[in-house]
Amino acid sequence: MARFIHRFFACTLLTALAAGAAPPVRILIAYHSRTGNTEKMAVAVREGAASVAGVEIVLRKVAEVTADDIVKADGIVLGTPVEWGNLSAEAKRFLDRVGEALGKAGATYGEGRTAAVFCTAGSPSNGQEMARMGAIAAFLAMRFAIVGGVNQEGFGTLGAQAVTAGKPPGVNDGDRAEARRFGERFARLTRQLRTAAAR
Ligand SMILES: Cc1cc2nc3c(=O)[nH]c(=O)nc-3n(C[C@H](O)[C@H](O)[C@H](O)COP(=O)(O)O)c2cc1C
Repeated sequence: MARFIHRFFACTLLTALAAGAAPPVRILIAYHSRTGNTEKMAVAVREGAASVAGVEIVLRKVAEVTADDIVKADGIVLGTPVEWGNLSAEAKRFLDRVGEALGKAGATYGEGRTAAVFCTAGSPSNGQEMARMGAIAAFLAMRFAIVGGVNQEGFGTLGAQAVTAGKPPGVNDGDRAEARRFGERFARLTRQLRTAAAR
């Protein structure tokens, strides 16, 4: 009987391994938000990412992200409000902490990992590009592979964005849909990169 039970568990384990029960792809969505707009986009990015199988998501305010969250992440998405034509100081501080955490962990920084950026801004053409490009430049310097978004016309973007000072103000359904598509694309491409690296 004992031998039978032993064999049964050994077979179950082998079947699971053969089925490629890979550990989940870990995605960290970190955001700074003073008045809730960027947070709404972050929640929509998470919804999109969660639609991809085999993905585990951590959603946190930048100030609450731990070094462990950073080191464990296969992909990092940063959300920032545009403040004075650029990413917020809090979002920039988070980027510094990403470099610090990966450096201390002895990792080759963002090598083999993905990163992406989204933002919200009060008015159109008033810093969205600068904010996303500023964060993208930092991620590139840390050796991350950057994933952008795709707009409704099918063109690539620097990442999802919303203009929040309209009438009514805030994040609308179209913005949320764009953020969900962005989250789905980020999770799917991060999974692809991790699977290819494991070969
Ligand atoms: C200090 C400060 C500076 C801002 N600077 C800009 C700016 O340069 N360009 C812009 O379009 N909006 C600017 N805004 C508006 C915010 O980007 C916008 O309201 C955003 O949606 C806020 O996001 P949150 O609700 O996640 O904090 C600024 C807001 C604050 C508080």
